[in-house]
Amino acid sequence: MGRDVIIACDFSSKEETLAFLDKFEGKKPFVKIGMELFYAEGPEIVREIKNRGHKIFLDLKLHDIPNTVKKAMSVLSRLDVDMVNLHAAGARPMMEAAIEGLTRDDGTRPMLIAVTQLTSTDQETMERDLMIKEPIDRVVMHYASNARESGLDGVVCSPLEAEKVHSVCGDDFVTVTPGVRFADGDKGDQKRVMTPAEAKGIGSDYIVVGRPITASADPVSAYERCVKEFVS
Ligand code: C5P
Repeated sequence: MGRDVIIACDFSSKEETLAFLDKFEGKKPFVKIGMELFYAEGPEIVREIKNRGHKIFLDLKLHDIPNTVKKAMSVLSRLDVDMVNLHAAGARPMMEAAIEGLTRDDGTRPMLIAVTQLTSTDQETMERDLMIKEPIDRVVMHYASNARESGLDGVVCSPLEAEKVHSVCGDDFVTVTPGVRFADGDKGDQKRVMTPAEAKGIGSDYIVVGRPITASADPVSAYERCVKEFVS
């Protein structure tokens, strides 16, 4: 498993998504399909993009009772996606059930990644709304350890947390990091950002890049620039 750039295909329709991917001609970037596109187009969009030869991170962030998550994961596994995720807040029995559901008869399964605390949750929100009083970075590392002990492959985290996740959970525990911007680019609504080269430097395994590629006048060059800075 090597480092890779995952393009966040945050589009609302199949037409828009396929028109975007058509620009890549022979190239087959790893893509992330999120809730908006999946709920709009259903599993067919996953099959279509997979048939075109792309790897897919299906970002649906499951969180329910273990039995429900297990059954849902088994359906997602049959879609032949490469990476899926869940909320570590669902706790270890749910994460273990997710692994069971994902594992195919031949023993293979998509990578399973946990969301720890959403980056939209800060210390104040966590204390007030979730009644969790511990420092947020301890909570993030605890959730990451739970994910590791439940057999998951890694976590989605801020690039600023990736080094610590590796030191707590091991270098082979995968970090998938959004919040990536070019040094000369627009930050948009992301607050804590890193360039692809910096993300490589701190040991991110996968970067998830949306608007710096999707909103670029030349998405293919922007993607290639990410690959050049992050992978090569
Ligand atoms: O356009 P941009 O590069 O900001 O897109 C980043 C992608 O990563 C979006 O799909 C966003 O939902 C996702 N993401 C994030 N921060 C997280 C988790 C996911 O930006 N903590």
